[in-house]
Amino acid sequence: MTEKMHDFIAKMPKAELHLHIEGSFEPELMFAIAQRNKVQTKFDSVEAVKEAYNFNNLQDFLDIYYEGAQVLLEEEDFFDLTWAYMQRIHAQNVIHTEIFFDPQTHTDRGVAFAKVIDGISNALHKAKHELGISSRLIMCFLRHLEESEAEKTLEMALPFKDKIYGVGLDSSELGHPPSKFKNVFAKAIEEGFVTVAHAGEEGPAKYIWEALDLLHISRLDHGNRSLDDPKLMERLAAEKMALTVCPLSNLKLCVVDDLKDHPLRKLMQNELKVTVNSDDPSYFGGYMNENFWAITDALDLSKDELYTLSRNAFEASFVSDKRKKEMIELLDNYFA
Ligand code: HPA
Ligand code: ZN
Repeated sequence: MTEKMHDFIAKMPKAELHLHIEGSFEPELMFAIAQRNKVQTKFDSVEAVKEAYNFNNLQDFLDIYYEGAQVLLEEEDFFDLTWAYMQRIHAQNVIHTEIFFDPQTHTDRGVAFAKVIDGISNALHKAKHELGISSRLIMCFLRHLEESEAEKTLEMALPFKDKIYGVGLDSSELGHPPSKFKNVFAKAIEEGFVTVAHAGEEGPAKYIWEALDLLHISRLDHGNRSLDDPKLMERLAAEKMALTVCPLSNLKLCVVDDLKDHPLRKLMQNELKVTVNSDDPSYFGGYMNENFWAITDALDLSKDELYTLSRNAFEASFVSDKRKKEMIELLDNYFA
């Protein structure tokens, strides 16, 4: 790519809609917090943490990701983690972000729900005021655990309802279909949460149908496997369902073998509302700019396509119409 294009992407106003806050944990910060909390991990140096980052499927990644999260104990830790991410994306011209967190990864170790949510929320509040970044929080249920566990987590979250906009579904996809969680998602909707779900990353198109019909999702996380099913693509297009696609994640977890074979453009050509996101930037080789650079390079995306991708994210964000309009205006001015 030309230096000009590289720079154009870096400065383009962007929104991120698929980001696991635990996946933004950089090895240096992980190591510092481990020492501060006197927590022993498998890793005895920053280099050892980095060396562990060679995985080639979702489960191998998740094992390391959950190991790293063990060092998070105090409200301050969740604050530091989130604040580091917000500063990074500020430097990349991300003006809105929607953040997943996995409460069960922490509450199952005895960390109070309040510490997790307060630490994250305080950093988001600071970022709004000091950096002008708007945000939403989405609580994910771990799908490798039972639905009854997710129900307990939903109960725990109710006192903090004002800080959580939606619920989602993540972790090991194969063997854990969306249907397993239909009751807890129905309860979440009754409580006023919007719903999203990871589906069609490693799992089949059938899981995407289930996410639509049983979990009543407002956005589809990943959704790469939609391409296997023309009827499904028609449905997604008709509903203007946004897909939160994560190029570098797909490459690292071998969902695609080569970014040149990435389905992003094909999905767009089928009228699907595709967005670009980082997923777990500290583990997968980059934040928003790195993802945009990599996929633009691989598929030779045009400026028109970049505009569509960025605009899709603003349109698909869970914010007020006023904020959406404001963000789209910034984008339009940038392209003008
Ligand atoms: N897929 C499923 N669960 C996850 C992911 C992912 O890409 N990242 C963090 N949890
Ligand atoms: Zn994800």
